[in-house]
Amino acid sequence: MPTLDEICTSILTQKTTSIVILTGAGISTSAGIPDFRTPVVGLYDKLTPLQLPYPEAIFHISYFRHTPEPFYAIARARHPRNLKPTLSHAFLALLAKKGVLRFVFTQNIDGLEIDAGVPGDKVLNCHGSWKTQRCFKCKTVYADDLMKDAIGRGCVPYCPVEGCGGVVKPDVVFFGESLPAAFGEMESEVVGEADLMIVMGTSLKVAPVSGVPRKVGMGVPRILVNNDVVGDFGARGDDDVCLIGGCDEGVREIVRKLGWGEELEEVWREAVERKERVLEEEGWDDDDGPGLDECIARAAEAMKLRMGVSDGHRRMLEGHLAEKMAGMMER
Ligand code: APR
Repeated sequence: MPTLDEICTSILTQKTTSIVILTGAGISTSAGIPDFRTPVVGLYDKLTPLQLPYPEAIFHISYFRHTPEPFYAIARARHPRNLKPTLSHAFLALLAKKGVLRFVFTQNIDGLEIDAGVPGDKVLNCHGSWKTQRCFKCKTVYADDLMKDAIGRGCVPYCPVEGCGGVVKPDVVFFGESLPAAFGEMESEVVGEADLMIVMGTSLKVAPVSGVPRKVGMGVPRILVNNDVVGDFGARGDDDVCLIGGCDEGVREIVRKLGWGEELEEVWREAVERKERVLEEEGWDDDDGPGLDECIARAAEAMKLRMGVSDGHRRMLEGHLAEKMAGMMER
């Protein structure tokens, strides 16, 4: 079984030069965006007050098309508007700088890999990104500044085209939609060439991306950097190295063994400063605005009101009902 030390030596001696990486929400949690499935703190558990048919409904196209409000209610808290790349994102950029990064498949839509400095031709947002948006009905592209305003206000944007009025949807892949064709193309092009697979911050619960680590050639080492063991990691016994714990901490361990600690800090610092300049130019207010919990609470209240049953009203009804029941009991 190649140990982590042996894998790092192989990178340093240019024996390993074609690293393929798969990332998920876990590499952006230290940037301030909760992941989806970690119990209690993950987005899906936090959505309970919205009484969705099931948590993922918020990102399912058949739900969004008739009820886009919950998605836009939390969009502000999940939009990467003022997020900065994490140390883990900087690690991807450092591998590219060192000439050993073959490709990154990311499930994230926050664009932080590019912000960190990963070249655009070396990363695919398998589930799309926030960068652009269009009308779900007529597909007309929707203006960035109007989208930014709608997200900032937590309102649903609608298509301005005369006679359309369709709901505007960011170019992220919802459940029930197909992935970009580039996913299939890149998967067949690069995964077979990998001489090292690194999987970071993902539960590997969502196909088809979750199948990528299984397609790496037998005998090719695979490193998992994650809070818990996921997918078929461990099934390959000798080929798998599992660094169980935080992504940033796992990256620090790898980089310490490579002797690239200072370079990584430099790449990270430059990436954060670059993003700060972009945010200033784009005029994203630094005001963090309502956090995820507050966005969810507001949306839950609005949904109750829309259904005509506010808390006060419901308590009054319940009280009235209790009196009636008590009266009946006395009879
Ligand atoms: N360090 C290491 N691991 C972490 C960290 C962290 N800081 N934070 C979270 N994790 C782990 C969690 O334990 C979990 O195993 O990362 C994984 C995140 O899993 P999910 O929340 O399911 O996120 P992801 O795998 O990216 O979800 C895939 O599901 O809802 C859809 O489209 C959405 O792209 C997303 C897809």
